[in-house]
Amino acid sequence: MNVHVYKDFEALSKEAAKRVEQQIEEKSASVLGLATGSTPIGLYRKMSEGVKKRGMSYRNVQTINLDEYLGLDPEHPRSYHTFMDEHLFKFIDIPEENRHLPNGKPDSVEEECRRYERLIDSIGPIDLQILGLGTNGHIGFNEPGTEEDEETHCVKLADSTREDNARFFGSIDEVPTHAITMGIRSILKSKEILLLASGKSKAEAVKTLLEKKVTKDFPASFLWNHYNVTLMVDQEAYGLVKTEGR
Ligand code: GLP
Repeated sequence: MNVHVYKDFEALSKEAAKRVEQQIEEKSASVLGLATGSTPIGLYRKMSEGVKKRGMSYRNVQTINLDEYLGLDPEHPRSYHTFMDEHLFKFIDIPEENRHLPNGKPDSVEEECRRYERLIDSIGPIDLQILGLGTNGHIGFNEPGTEEDEETHCVKLADSTREDNARFFGSIDEVPTHAITMGIRSILKSKEILLLASGKSKAEAVKTLLEKKVTKDFPASFLWNHYNVTLMVDQEAYGLVKTEGR
């Protein structure tokens, strides 16, 4: 795992966007794996600026999002479909049919999970997967206790995750209890992974990750089993890492 430490959220977002743009310049029909949450918002803003100010184009790109809340229509204001529209898709020229997220209201959850994994395998492998980091070490919605060989599946959200995400919903009671998420195995199929972490609230999780102990109690630690992962972190999120001898 490469570890890059940046001054702040702005610098981190700028460098992450540079890597995404470089990927698209090298291969215009790239497959990008996308994440939601506060952390990638800066990256998405920079990508949007690239389209507006520098003529970047995503017209041949396919995107595959990590997860979606179960029980929310795509049009629901707090669905990840809506999040992606508001923070990225409405600002870039990616065709609608090239944007993929799990359906949060499927007739059959099992069938939807199978469909999504088949989709990853058919248009993938993902060239560049963006990940945020949950305070409990989750990636996507792979909560502590998840197995490394899981593909897309339905999860019961951890209480801590529902508390963390209550800020988007107004109250914890409105946060869905379940979600569909790409599994660890689905994520590790990607050719390259960028894991982003920003702010003091992530410092403990970053410290745990960098202890290099691979365990299902801290799902992000499975990233140590991938050959091409870069952790992009700002100084606040890096604040608890002991740097002597590194
Ligand atoms: C959410 C998402 C994850 C995200 C994480 C961190 O629950 N499912 O994909 O990485 O939590 O979110 P944030 O960036 O807001 O801290």
